[in-house]
Amino acid sequence: MALLEVDGIDVSYGAVQVIWDVSLSVEEGETVALLGANGAGKTTVLKTICGPLTPAAGDIRFRGESIGDLPQDEVVPKGVAHIPEGREIFQDSTVRENLTLGAYAHRDGMEERRQEVYDLFPRLEERAKQRAGTLSGGEQQMLAIGRGLMSDPELILLDEASLGLAPVLVDDVFDAIEQINDEGRTVLIVEQDVHNALRVADRGYVLESGEVSLSGSAEELSEDERVAASYLGG
Ligand SMILES: Nc1ncnc2c1ncn2[C@@H]1O[C@H](COP(=O)(O)OP(=O)(O)O)[C@@H](O)[C@H]1O
Ligand SMILES: [Mg+2]
Repeated sequence: MALLEVDGIDVSYGAVQVIWDVSLSVEEGETVALLGANGAGKTTVLKTICGPLTPAAGDIRFRGESIGDLPQDEVVPKGVAHIPEGREIFQDSTVRENLTLGAYAHRDGMEERRQEVYDLFPRLEERAKQRAGTLSGGEQQMLAIGRGLMSDPELILLDEASLGLAPVLVDDVFDAIEQINDEGRTVLIVEQDVHNALRVADRGYVLESGEVSLSGSAEELSEDERVAASYLGG
């Protein structure tokens, strides 16, 4: 049994269906990439896994337990953290306060986990008392990831973590993803940066117009001419 099983889901916004019979799985300890062009449905799939959206058909299981119909505040305590696109951090709270708020579902061991986050992103420790809204874009992204880690998740869903960052920070974010995975957490990343995503991922799925068009190991996808033609500038 995979840690996460997405089994044939359809998802609609009102009357408009945007996800069609999507299945994917993530094994414990893996990093899996969900790839695809803008508008393909990547964010919609993540939001359906973590709570805000509900599948119209199909099922989502975490450790074998159906979570498709659960709201986000019931999914997080089960061990799933979602780091949304656009870094929805609390702008007027400090870095430290943002991290504390991220631990709402798991207060035990909070201080150790905060230190884990500071070890991963030393800049956040230096800026612990600074208001989050005054951080640079890259630092805000680090804080968003750090806040997600504060719930001590087994599975992290990361939506476009590298979008809009300077190249040097993009490398930092992907290095952090690798380190988070090395520390034993399972990761599902949504990325338009296919090159870097396949560098850190074990496997990947390609979404096209709301359907899975391709899946395979990171190596297979990197070498696939359709992936190269669409996303790798090949
Ligand atoms: N809140 C919404 N209401 C209606 N349609 C939406 C909404 N969010 C996304 N969509 C549509 O769903 C499709 C998939 O969007 P999205 O999941 O955001 O794609 P991606 O993350 O791959 O860029 C797009 O056609 C988009 O316009
Ligand atoms: Mg998106």
